[in-house]
Amino acid sequence: MMLVRILVTGACGQIGSELVPLLRERYGKDNVIASDIVVEKLKMLSEPYEVINVLDREKLEKVIKEYDIDIIYHLAAILSAKGEENPQLCYQVNINGTYNVLEAARVGGVEKVIIPSSIAVFGPETPDNPGEITILKPRTMYGISKVFAELAGEYYYHKYGLDVRGLRFPGIISWKTPPGGGTTDYAVEVFYAAIEKGHYTYFVREDTTLPMMYMPDALKALIQLMEADNSRLRYRFYNVSGMSFSARELTEVIKKFIPYFTVEYKPDERQKIADSWPSRLDDTAAREDWDWKPDWDLERMAKDMIENLSKKLRKRV
Ligand SMILES: NC(=O)c1ccc[n+]([C@@H]2O[C@H](COP(=O)([O-])OP(=O)(O)OC[C@H]3O[C@@H](n4cnc5c(N)ncnc54)[C@H](O)[C@@H]3O)[C@@H](O)[C@H]2O)c1
Repeated sequence: MMLVRILVTGACGQIGSELVPLLRERYGKDNVIASDIVVEKLKMLSEPYEVINVLDREKLEKVIKEYDIDIIYHLAAILSAKGEENPQLCYQVNINGTYNVLEAARVGGVEKVIIPSSIAVFGPETPDNPGEITILKPRTMYGISKVFAELAGEYYYHKYGLDVRGLRFPGIISWKTPPGGGTTDYAVEVFYAAIEKGHYTYFVREDTTLPMMYMPDALKALIQLMEADNSRLRYRFYNVSGMSFSARELTEVIKKFIPYFTVEYKPDERQKIADSWPSRLDDTAAREDWDWKPDWDLERMAKDMIENLSKKLRKRV
């Protein structure tokens, strides 16, 4: 086990709430400092935690110094759909916040910063099944902010030797903590609705096909990339892919487990965002450079989601 001190920003979110316990298991409880802007939720993660608004660089610098942080997982962000409701806040948190984290890491002598990027860096001009080097002309403020994070991360790596790494995640599906306002949230909401009401109204068309990943694979990727030997890395930001399916295919799989489940498709403004993203992405480089391999496919994920969510919601299906 490496002896490291890790700071996680945005730790109370969908990913952080599962990543923090896993990191604590791996690196020791006291070596993983959870932080978020939300005080109440932080208490659920248990100590050590610090309230950090990533717009407050002084606080970031103070915490990095106080705990002698080596690695930062920078998860704090405003996600795609929420970002289109409030692009100004998205700009502030995702662009200024990421800049603050990189600057605080640089002056604080942090070794590595891991930043999740997203399929939102792609846009309508991106070819389907894109690799790492492709057209990045997103149409959302969230996507723009993730392109900034990637480019700024590479800049800090080449200019200052700060080891910034990241993953272009597809939509993440999980049952422990609800998602925070992304375009792929339907792929999680549908499970809650299927179990609780037997009915779901999608906010996308039935043929909407996007890349997705089950949380255990996302957590594995976040740790594997962080631990990967830098000399093997051709890129700072890697595509990772788990599965791709249409809303209709998702419905069909859920029906195998919940036969009475019914759906409607009523696309709203989020359809436009979904349509601007590729339906799958090429993660060959991650497989070659740091041995990435997802474990979960659509059917196994759906079965596991239904089992765990019905227990959590105390509802038999
Ligand atoms: N969940 C996905 O499907 C997905 C897909 C691709 C990329 N990502 C990326 O992964 C990272 C984590 O995503 P998530 O799904 O856990 O998001 P989330 O929305 O569930 O959580 C984000 C957390 O950031 C916190 N936050 C918001 N503003 C803040 C601020 N000013 N200072 C500090 N904290 C603040 C929120 O309180 C929240 O707990 C993000 O960078 C996101 O862009 C997520």
